Amino acid sequence: MPAHIGIIMDGNGRWARKRALPRSAGHSAGAKAFKEIARYANRIGLRYLTVYAFSTENWKRPPEEVANIMNILRDYLKNTESFKEENIQVRFVGDIGVLDQDIIDLILKAESDSKNATGLQLNIALNYGGRDEILHAVKGLMREAKEGKAEPDQLDETMFSNRLYTYGQPDPDLIIRPSGEYRLSNFMIWQSAYAEFWFSDILWPDFKPKHLDEAIAAYQSRDRRYGGV
Ligand code: IPE
Ligand code: IPE
Ligand code: MG
Repeated sequence: MPAHIGIIMDGNGRWARKRALPRSAGHSAGAKAFKEIARYANRIGLRYLTVYAFSTENWKRPPEEVANIMNILRDYLKNTESFKEENIQVRFVGDIGVLDQDIIDLILKAESDSKNATGLQLNIALNYGGRDEILHAVKGLMREAKEGKAEPDQLDETMFSNRLYTYGQPDPDLIIRPSGEYRLSNFMIWQSAYAEFWFSDILWPDFKPKHLDEAIAAYQSRDRRYGGV
């Protein structure tokens, strides 16, 4: 069983277009799929799940679409009771500080309400970019070095990893990207150094627990050598 799975939840827009629906309908359907998959991942005993919900590049979309995605997030976060019931611990990864204040408040509440949960650790990557995350870590280290609190030669991979939004968590073992695209789109670029990948043509709103099972089975048949023999 992988300890940590990352999912790039892609294909909402194409799912809607195929049905002659607005893109917003695709995002709503994608949110539904997300809830089902998070619940299922928890049930099968997965330790960590990171879902890519909104990238640092997604601000390029029309303002109406961005607002629509943020509203879906608001609705989701208003129902934090469900985390408690399901014993899911939620953490947001990404540059949260620039979001609307009411969303920041909801995020902080969701994180604190669920902090004692012992089930799945769910990371929601929001305004997340792998490069942005690395720069954020580097800036912190440079600041400390300037103040004489950090020694450049002492920097190692563990110290660096502890500066990332995913500090304290294992790197993803398996990264899933549906929707027929074969790229990371700036998702966990440091953490994915030795991840296994599973790609599929399924559009995210159509993604079902059986697809997660399929991806995990594929992962279990891989031989991870980490550069060894
Ligand atoms: C993923 O679906 C959701 C976000 C990026 C927020 P898309 O909206 O990218 O769907 P496609 O790729 O246009 O089909
Ligand atoms: C990646 O999907 C980001 C999320 C799923 C949140 P995109 O749809 O933004 O990626 P590109 O533009 O196809 O690379
Ligand atoms: Mg997309």
